Amino acid sequence: MKKLIAGNWKMNGNGDTAEAFDNDMEEVLNKYSHVEWLICPPFPYIASLSNLQRGAQDCSAYDRGAYTGEVSAAMLADMGCTYCIVGHSERRTLHMEDNKLVRNKVKQLLSHNIRPIICVGETLEEREAGQAYEVVSRQILESLSDNITSENAVLAYEPVWAIGTGKAATLCDVTKMHGMIRDLLKSSLATAAKMRILYGGSVKPSNAAELLNADNVDGALIGSASLLHEDFIAIGKAVEI
Ligand code: PGA
Repeated sequence: MKKLIAGNWKMNGNGDTAEAFDNDMEEVLNKYSHVEWLICPPFPYIASLSNLQRGAQDCSAYDRGAYTGEVSAAMLADMGCTYCIVGHSERRTLHMEDNKLVRNKVKQLLSHNIRPIICVGETLEEREAGQAYEVVSRQILESLSDNITSENAVLAYEPVWAIGTGKAATLCDVTKMHGMIRDLLKSSLATAAKMRILYGGSVKPSNAAELLNADNVDGALIGSASLLHEDFIAIGKAVEI
């Protein structure tokens, strides 16, 4: 499987910037097709992407009905979304989302053939207390649904302390955690043993080559550096063919 270079725009941009970004990417998508490119804009701008693969940043855990403000997986499928981020640490922290809720969102997405990008990661306190692996493995085991396979979903390891701080995890931290996640998938979720594991947290052009070509790093989930197309492209280009 190709490495996935996924941009998470969070609550940034507008219709014009999304369209301009999409136009600027047109040539790149053909030229650098050794990676899979994806952008997850805010809901209203998903339709502004016509060249880029479309993703969403969240979805409802419910199918349909009286859930004001929610967007269902069926609606995302209707918008042409192929991926959807779930369980991002900002949602876990700011919106109190837990593993059970994330798992229900995963089920909704899979039933509409959208690949969930399931985010996991420890806080600084948890890392300093030596609990990073325990926290991440619990998040994985509780957030993944039974029908997960290596192809229909993606994991993103995003240490909370590395998100938006400009301070990415070290290569050593990343390879260690990704290796442990791979072992966990092999031993506990055999159907998902080869699932792609993305790294996220302050990925930028200057650290992309080192992080993206490491063992068991199958792509990146990129926040702020995905807002500038030059940076986003530079990150994808850093993946060795
Ligand atoms: P960042 O965000 O690249 O700005 O650190 C990553 C993310 O939140 O997915």
